[in-house]
Amino acid sequence: ESIEKGGYPHFMLKEIFEQPRSILDSMRGRLVAENTQLTMSSIREYATRFKNADRIIIVACGTSWHAGLVAEYMIEEFARIPVEVEYASEFRYRNPVIREGDIVVAISQSGETADTLAALELAKSKGALIFGVCNVVGSSIARATDAGAYTHAGPEIGVASTKAFTAQVTVLSLIAMMLAEMRGTMETSALRQMMMEMEQIPAKVEKALQLDKEIQAISEIFKDATNFIYLGRGFNFPVALEGALKLKEISYIHAEGYPAAEMKHGPIALIDENMPVVVIATKDSSYEKIVSNVQEVRARKGRVIAIVTEGDTVIPQMAEFVIEVPAAHEALMPLISVIPLQLLSYHIAVMRGCNVDQPRNLAKSVTVE
Ligand code: G6P
Repeated sequence: ESIEKGGYPHFMLKEIFEQPRSILDSMRGRLVAENTQLTMSSIREYATRFKNADRIIIVACGTSWHAGLVAEYMIEEFARIPVEVEYASEFRYRNPVIREGDIVVAISQSGETADTLAALELAKSKGALIFGVCNVVGSSIARATDAGAYTHAGPEIGVASTKAFTAQVTVLSLIAMMLAEMRGTMETSALRQMMMEMEQIPAKVEKALQLDKEIQAISEIFKDATNFIYLGRGFNFPVALEGALKLKEISYIHAEGYPAAEMKHGPIALIDENMPVVVIATKDSSYEKIVSNVQEVRARKGRVIAIVTEGDTVIPQMAEFVIEVPAAHEALMPLISVIPLQLLSYHIAVMRGCNVDQPRNLAKSVTVE
């Protein structure tokens, strides 16, 4: 087993550090920015259906559901197709409205999650086209779909999903770009720019991983906390949910992820001088707004750990701790901003003596209801 871990103490850490490579693997052969070329044969095969889609419904569970939320923002922004993201377990039991012009995208690392499989079978019986985004080749969900794209992240052993998430977001962003190209909703120059940004992501993730020691030091300070709040807006909102989920899963610390502006409708009541608040505040179209959210937390003496873009001079004056990540297009930022959150949860869990790779009560794939 120690050989399989490749010198890392846990599979989770190995998988976190594999991400520059796994993200590259999930783009390989599918993207050539130089020629503004996107290749995903399964999408081309159903080009007419995708071009004329009235709606895309994404069904997934857990971390895959968070990747679905990122996809919702990307597909609506780039391809202008309305998207709904559903918990598979709710969708399958609530008599959802599914029409023939709908495309249902099932996202699953294992390809074996029972609720996701049942949700897609239901949608299939109502005539929707079913597209899968799975990691495990030949898995039940992959086989049950009409078409799909594998994420090619390689085997993920740690129960808490890390590299599978970034691979899903990568593939879904390529899908969003392809749909934009097919529907003519994005200028070629903008599309090429996005593709070039995409090609730079592995190197930027590599850079974000170099923050490991810094994050370890911050983890030491907060390892005994009993609660955490994670805030983000726009493309970083799903990242806040994912950061909170990672911490809960492996360190057993209660954590809530929230859209930053929604904080004032509840979680703000929890903030006092003991509350760690992780704010994903990278430079994007909601930057000014998130600066005000940081101020609101500071005014209540919350302990802000901010993820910011390199060179930011404003937030470092307000936050107690600042983690600087490389800049990227805002739609691709989740691929970078999630890295420090994965590392934070990992180090805190290790310091608390938790079984990081096999946390209590959780399973890698949930094949029962
Ligand atoms: C379990 C795992 C999670 C995963 C979720 C969905 O809860 O512990 O890490 O995100 O299932 O799994 P899937 O294989 O469908 O992505």
